[in-house]
Amino acid sequence: MSSFTLVSNKVNSLHGEIEVPGDKSISHRTVILSMLSEGQTVIENYLSSEDIFRTIEVSRILGADIHLKNEIMEVYGKGLGKLVDPKKILNFGNSGTSIRLFMGILAAQKFDSVLTGDRSLRKRPMERVAKPLRAMGANLETNNGNPPVKIKGTNKLNNLRYKLDIPSAQIKSAILLASLFTNGKTVIETDTDTRDHTEIMLKDFSSQIEVDEKTISIVGGELVSPEYIYVPGDLSSASFLILAGLISKDSELKIKNVGLNPTRMGFIEIMKLMNADIQINTDKTFNTNEKIGSIVVRSSNLKGIEVPKRLIASAIDEMPLVFIAAACAEGYTSIKNAKELRYKESDRIKAMVNNLTSLSIEINEYDDGARIKGGTIRGTNLDSFDDHRVAMACLLASCRSETPVTVKNCLNINTSFPTFKEIMNSIGMNIHEA
Ligand code: S3P
Repeated sequence: MSSFTLVSNKVNSLHGEIEVPGDKSISHRTVILSMLSEGQTVIENYLSSEDIFRTIEVSRILGADIHLKNEIMEVYGKGLGKLVDPKKILNFGNSGTSIRLFMGILAAQKFDSVLTGDRSLRKRPMERVAKPLRAMGANLETNNGNPPVKIKGTNKLNNLRYKLDIPSAQIKSAILLASLFTNGKTVIETDTDTRDHTEIMLKDFSSQIEVDEKTISIVGGELVSPEYIYVPGDLSSASFLILAGLISKDSELKIKNVGLNPTRMGFIEIMKLMNADIQINTDKTFNTNEKIGSIVVRSSNLKGIEVPKRLIASAIDEMPLVFIAAACAEGYTSIKNAKELRYKESDRIKAMVNNLTSLSIEINEYDDGARIKGGTIRGTNLDSFDDHRVAMACLLASCRSETPVTVKNCLNINTSFPTFKEIMNSIGMNIHEA
């Protein structure tokens, strides 16, 4: 994995009308909820990436019949009570979302299971998910907090009232999935909005779920498939195009058919506060409560800001891009309250501090963020630190550098955005293998 190096050359202007592949978070949930409901679900525009293939593989091991043909996925689920004992270790590769959501499902089964992943995933915290599941009566053991996670079978989980102390959609989703296997009502209290794709899709699958400003209540019981799901383009992938358009000169890009879920709009809001020229148009949607639309971006003179705390959770996956935006902006940008970045595919604060320093940008590291002074980027050799989003964000530095930016260890891009290089080159970037 470590040898795959990408070189990104100096950029002139960027132009084009593009679509990005389907949303990763939504794609995981379409497979999982289809597996847990009875009968056929047809899924269009799902993301074909390594992380989604892990969710598909584990769903197949647990008994779902899944066919992939001509970019359409058909899932034949068996219903809640009929998952199959895997009888082998379940490997989730690099996918934090998959392992954590499946912890919720597997904690509620009669059979035992063992869940593990790759080098990066085996360093990520799992106790945050194990803790509420234990409070429901599940029997889980982590390896000093990390995978492998060993789950002992149970006959029944209890209902729970749980206050989310970490703003995490994965913890919330694991509890919601476990709750499906209970008889009564589970309530989650939360102060911070995190992505709500699980809640939206559970409604699409006719679950008894109610959401108000600070609580989510769910009553366990069978799901009914909506039979067809369209996955919108991934706003997190679109964000690479958005930033590239903003920081390159004389550029204009239109990104179509992209998800505009309000709990994911933090990056766009941060860019607007930094003086970005971004226009959003919402399309009419059918058969789901997910918002879809188009985004137009034009070259902008970005200005440094103090990133508001309220926008961190809804921009959490885009924060490496905020570091790059800050390096291209006039003045100082301060990022605080973002300690969660240390628990992603890499320690994203450390990775971005290292890489921006190598790119000749002045940056001070905080425990929960960094202070970055905009300046002149000088392209050089960087590392992805085993992290797809660090790799892709850093390759964009070439939009503002006279010399090429080289990032080693880039195969991980396939976990979330396998067509990144092709799509970026189609708008005028020049990224190639070393
Ligand atoms: C995700 C939730 C987020 C995000 C991850 C995808 C999801 O993680 O960073 O890439 O699909 O639920 P947390 O919920 O742990 O913050």
